[in-house]
Amino acid sequence: MTTIAIDGPAAAGKGTLSRLIADAYGFHHLDTGLTYRAVAKALLDAGLPLDDEAVAVRSASEIDLSGLDRAVLSAHGIGEAASKIAVMPAVRRALVEAQRSFARKAPGTVLDGRDIGTVVCPDAKVKLYVTASPEVRARRRYDEMAAGGVQAEFATVLADIERRDARDMGRADSPLKPASDAHLIDTSTMGIEAAFQAARAIIDAALK
Ligand code: C5P
Repeated sequence: MTTIAIDGPAAAGKGTLSRLIADAYGFHHLDTGLTYRAVAKALLDAGLPLDDEAVAVRSASEIDLSGLDRAVLSAHGIGEAASKIAVMPAVRRALVEAQRSFARKAPGTVLDGRDIGTVVCPDAKVKLYVTASPEVRARRRYDEMAAGGVQAEFATVLADIERRDARDMGRADSPLKPASDAHLIDTSTMGIEAAFQAARAIIDAALK
């Protein structure tokens, strides 16, 4: 089974890139961020606290990977809540177990997130770490929000990105970092098509 692991910070372009790669190679795709978001949303909807590990684990162990709806889970507030519940080791263990069983699907899988190459699938055939400067990522997020009719201050969007980076990179369990054998793709000055071509060259070489 071939697994492609794609990690990186928020708004680096790894979601779009992962979908293009999965389509190109005919592999199943899982955006693992949606699993953390689904747990956060379930707690928010039920009016439950985001810092009670026992409560969050119960929700994490009931996760149904086939029911993850990006449109419903993409709200900014859910991302923020997801990064809070993602610091809890027992929540991570439950979600990682579900993610690993997805990774075994034939003929192959693409998983994207923060800890795929380091923790979830350390034996992945190909590991990519997709990043861009905080300013470029904030600009993309800001433009996306503006296109969707959402008013925001650029400085606030940048501060949100930097706060999320600090939480994801600074947590004790499975912090965001490139695996030692990951290929780095910096999309700061690259469009999605150039990033896709760079990724394809790396994947083709690894699968040969
Ligand atoms: O990628 P996305 O923004 O949807 O992820 C939401 C949050 O879920 C991240 O900020 C991170 O805290 C958490 N996450 C994680 N590990 C993953 C995927 C996401 O901790 N593999």
